[in-house]
Amino acid sequence: MKLPSILNLVTDDLAVDLGTSRTRVFARGRGIVVNEPSLLAYDTPTREVVAVGLEALELEGRASEDIHIISPLQDGVVADSTFAGKLLEHYIRKARDGRSTISRRVLISIAADASDIEHYALRYAAKEANVSNVHFINKGIVAILGSGVDPDDQRATLVVDVGAGTTTIAAMVHNHLIFTRTLRVGGNDMDTALIDMIKQNHNLLVGPRTAERVKIELGCAVPLDQEQTTMVKGRSTIGGNPEMAVVNSIEIHEAIEPIVARIVNSVQDALEALPPEASGDIYDRGMVLGGGASLLAGFDERLMKETELAVQLTESPQRAVIRGLGLLFENPLALRRAIIKSEQ
Ligand SMILES: Nc1ncnc2c1ncn2[C@@H]1O[C@H](COP(=O)(O)OP(=O)(O)OP(=O)(O)O)[C@@H](O)[C@H]1O
Ligand SMILES: [Mg+2]
Repeated sequence: MKLPSILNLVTDDLAVDLGTSRTRVFARGRGIVVNEPSLLAYDTPTREVVAVGLEALELEGRASEDIHIISPLQDGVVADSTFAGKLLEHYIRKARDGRSTISRRVLISIAADASDIEHYALRYAAKEANVSNVHFINKGIVAILGSGVDPDDQRATLVVDVGAGTTTIAAMVHNHLIFTRTLRVGGNDMDTALIDMIKQNHNLLVGPRTAERVKIELGCAVPLDQEQTTMVKGRSTIGGNPEMAVVNSIEIHEAIEPIVARIVNSVQDALEALPPEASGDIYDRGMVLGGGASLLAGFDERLMKETELAVQLTESPQRAVIRGLGLLFENPLALRRAIIKSEQ
């Protein structure tokens, strides 16, 4: 039996996936200890944070005019460093759970092709959260590891992680990333497209939670065999009164189709960019899907049809990235290779 070292009892190794819709924290030896919405509620006049995560979500649409709910991440990127720092600080404190006040190190995933500005914003947020020893980790690599792929595998693997704000496409051979690309497109864009469609077709303004529900209930990446409908409530764009409308699966499919097509086209571009040997491997074994938006009905089927490859959905796909981050603690070589930058 492997005993935890004394150091592990008094300090925590933590890993954070600061996602557009959810923040997940992995504590070494304890697993995923935080999995909550990346949301904050603050008081507008004082800018004081009044609620974080699930508590902030509960305030949405119910709080006073002075309370503002924000997501400090947009399209997978830190849009507000100060509030992202507060979010990070809150969740890191929660993950430590009073066990320790110091963290030997914190791993944070970031897109491999993130700009200097994105790095700066995340570094600033980490400083705000009082995290000093931080390693920025290549999100493509951890998306692959979290999908159950052995990093030492001699054959190429292709992973597509479709999140709320980003789609990460990455291919790896024997511990080396051979391709990675980040699209600023994900499930949130489908929600926005549904809000626009309901406004245009039904003169009704609905909120993002309603749009997300419609997507999960009736959204489909291929046309449904049988038309289905669902009821939505919102505010009329004509009279301003609360109203209801019935939306059908055909208009839902049409609204999200451009986003699905963009993702599928990018996967096809990635396949064309792979070296021939790697293409052969992918031809044999297909690709693995991760990220919550890959759960969209018919998405795997659509990719299978258009690429003529096998497509497999990883187990609890929303957790693939945080699982991969956690695995790095047990694999020093993979960790070294996955680090993009370290800040002491
Ligand atoms: N069954 C489902 N069908 C369609 N979409 C779904 C389903 N379940 C979750 N989603 C969508 O998945 C997205 C969240 O996925 P995930 O948790 O992987 O994102 P994230 O990690 O926060 O974002 P990102 O990695 O882009 O920063 C949301 O847009 C959500 O609506
Ligand atoms: Mg994600």
